[in-house]
Amino acid sequence: MRSFSLFFVQVFLASSAFIVFSTATTMGPCSQISGSIFSPIPDLLACLKSFPFNETLRQNVLSVVSRTFDFYTFESYYLDLPAPFQESTTDIRQELSRINATQYATDYDFNKDLYQFINSLNDGHTQWLPNCYVIWENLLPIPIVSLEVNGTQNVYVVPDAVQFVDLIPNGFEEFYSNLGIDWATLAGALVTSIEGMDPYTYVDHIADTVSGNFLDHGVRVNSVFSSYRLSGSSWSQKFGDFAGRLFSSTENVTLTVVPNGLAAEETVTIPFLAARMGGSAFEDSASYWANNCAAGDGTNGVDRRTGSNEPSGRTTSTPSRLQFRGAGRAPADGIGLPATLQPTLPELGDNTAVLKVYTLPDNETGVIFVGSFDDASDSEFQNDVVAAIQVLQSAGVTRLLIDLTNNLVGGVICQGIFFHSYLAGSDFGYAGFQGAIQANQLAQEIVTEDIADQLPVDLSFYPPAQWLFVNGTALLDNFNYVVPDLTEKVNGVADSFSIRLEDMCPFYVPIPASPPFELRYALFYANGNCASTCAQFATNMYERHNTTIAVFGGKPGLDMEYKGMAGYQVLVWTDLDSEIKTAGLKGDPLAPPDLHVGYSYMRHNWRTAYSWLDEKTPIAFRSELPQLRFPYTKDTYMNPQNIWTYASVPP
Ligand SMILES: *[C@@H]1O[C@H](CO)[C@@H](O)[C@H](O)[C@H]1NC(C)=O
Ligand SMILES: *[C@@H]1O[C@H](CO)[C@@H](O)[C@H](O)[C@H]1NC(C)=O
Ligand SMILES: *[C@@H]1O[C@H](CO)[C@@H](O)[C@H](O)[C@H]1NC(C)=O
Ligand SMILES: *[C@@H]1O[C@H](CO)[C@@H](O)[C@H](O)[C@H]1NC(C)=O
Ligand SMILES: *[C@@H]1O[C@H](CO)[C@@H](O)[C@H](O)[C@H]1NC(C)=O
Ligand SMILES: *[C@@H]1O[C@H](CO)[C@@H](O)[C@H](O)[C@H]1NC(C)=O
Ligand SMILES: *[C@@H]1O[C@H](CO)[C@@H](O)[C@H](O)[C@H]1NC(C)=O
Repeated sequence: MRSFSLFFVQVFLASSAFIVFSTATTMGPCSQISGSIFSPIPDLLACLKSFPFNETLRQNVLSVVSRTFDFYTFESYYLDLPAPFQESTTDIRQELSRINATQYATDYDFNKDLYQFINSLNDGHTQWLPNCYVIWENLLPIPIVSLEVNGTQNVYVVPDAVQFVDLIPNGFEEFYSNLGIDWATLAGALVTSIEGMDPYTYVDHIADTVSGNFLDHGVRVNSVFSSYRLSGSSWSQKFGDFAGRLFSSTENVTLTVVPNGLAAEETVTIPFLAARMGGSAFEDSASYWANNCAAGDGTNGVDRRTGSNEPSGRTTSTPSRLQFRGAGRAPADGIGLPATLQPTLPELGDNTAVLKVYTLPDNETGVIFVGSFDDASDSEFQNDVVAAIQVLQSAGVTRLLIDLTNNLVGGVICQGIFFHSYLAGSDFGYAGFQGAIQANQLAQEIVTEDIADQLPVDLSFYPPAQWLFVNGTALLDNFNYVVPDLTEKVNGVADSFSIRLEDMCPFYVPIPASPPFELRYALFYANGNCASTCAQFATNMYERHNTTIAVFGGKPGLDMEYKGMAGYQVLVWTDLDSEIKTAGLKGDPLAPPDLHVGYSYMRHNWRTAYSWLDEKTPIAFRSELPQLRFPYTKDTYMNPQNIWTYASVPP
């Protein structure tokens, strides 16, 4: 049974249909690649670089990006980040000026530079993702992992490469066989160098130039490797950033390897093949631009008071407050996890849920794999948590093991708070973090207007009625919580923030008075690729309950944090623009203009959470190492059940 991501399949079917009906005769730079979801890199680049640089678009994009950064909670922190995060230190305004003053040959080059600068902040909440270029991902058939064999860790080609590649739609393997490249013999090979470098040095380089997303270098190293995750409710295998690259122009990679069973090294050069993971069909450069790059419905926000266009937020069954989300960008390369590696234990509970629940054969350990905090609805997530805890309690397990591996979606902040609250018991009290938002002048004006217009919480993120004071009482409807702004010195720069706020979360099920399991002995484990609401949840368990946290993988001898992407709340461009329009402030001189390129996803960390152990420090910038750290082995690297079994045996 083949299983790939629904989106991949849809694009694939759409493209196959196109092959049948295509009558293209003139071969312009984009017509060359219009008939297939796969494209050799030189052909793809010929298409993507066929759009000339346009100064008008640069000014438009940079205005939107720089005025979005006005709302970024972390700008002044980035001037001098604390250890161990110092390598991401960036002067954001200086970079924006540099990009404003640089000469570019093509639109691609301009967007690539902007993408690269924001990506290298290593904050997955904050990204420039122009649809025109990020619908492609460049793939290799040989993802890599770091494995311990006979007590020594080395880099290997994934041993399941053949089964994995077999799940990729038609056209991928054929590309390599037509070139006479026998990549399949490399499955499980020991990698002795990549691009002439020590393999781990090359992995460090990819972690610093490609991965983005995670502030901690060690966590980014794990992102370079292939690993398992849950995509929706299905097991999936990530290519990892070595073998799956976004917005990349790298054409090939040269490795020396020792294939399984051989004693001698050999050198191989493997070309990337690009796959279109989204976007719309096209026939030539003009239709590529029109369908994938130009502005359209949904490029910008809406005035939510007029009610026509729904904002980008999820629709819920009841009209309720807008959802505060802490979300990463999950990879589009949703290829299934080979069936032989999927858990064989019976699934307890709802197998369509984002949670997977098992008891291990020892009958003492219950496992909950949390794929995301974003279920079909909030009440469904909460009901699934209750069902999971109840089924494990009735099975008589005494230990809980929560697997957060590659929880890259994160999700609804209140669901992270709910899950923590359910595990901690209602006697524990408020189960979220204290947070704050940027108090720039436009934010102050938005709150003033929202108060004057008595905007309800289902139309805007900014009204005071969205929040609680830190003593748990609701803000008064007319209290402008950003106006007597609190100025703090951050890296010697005066920066303004709102008062500290707590989340107001609807719970649809009763919370038990006391914890259902002994929390100190609950073992959480992950590979550090835990984004946003996932990081918030794990940090709360660690900071408030000393719950043991184990992390797998990484580079031997290099520390790895357990929380990957630990901002608090993300706001995407369309939502920020909607806030401004709904407050009636689009004409304000401080407001960003409408964006003139389509679906270019500017997103930023809009709200920060502060550590319970040091209330001056955002959790994002507080180093917290896991208590336990293990390497992957050939038995565990891609086999969730084997990892749980390994982790359930007390060391
Ligand atoms: C640049 O882009 C703008 C906005 O899309 C467009 O109106 C203009 O014609 C473009 N300029 C050139 C020289 O193509
Ligand atoms: C880019 O630089 C030019 C020239 O200094 C300036 O007029 C323009 O406002 C700058 N653009 C942005 C978006 O800051
Ligand atoms: C690991 O150890 C086993 C048993 O000593 C040996 O047979 C095998 O060749 C070793 N493998 C490697 C990769 O060193
Ligand atoms: C590898 O890519 C480079 C450009 O990055 C190109 O010059 C070279 O020909 C490619 N080699 C192979 C074997 O494809
Ligand atoms: C776990 O429970 C099952 C079913 O009751 C039983 O067959 C099995 O022997 C138990 N395993 C252990 C390790 O106690
Ligand atoms: C909670 O704090 C707010 C702001 O400091 C204060 O106005 C309010 O009276 C407090 N409420 C209670 C019940 O202490
Ligand atoms: C966690 O452990 C540390 C060190 O043992 C201790 O100081 C702290 O009070 C503990 N915190 C909680 C919430 O139990």
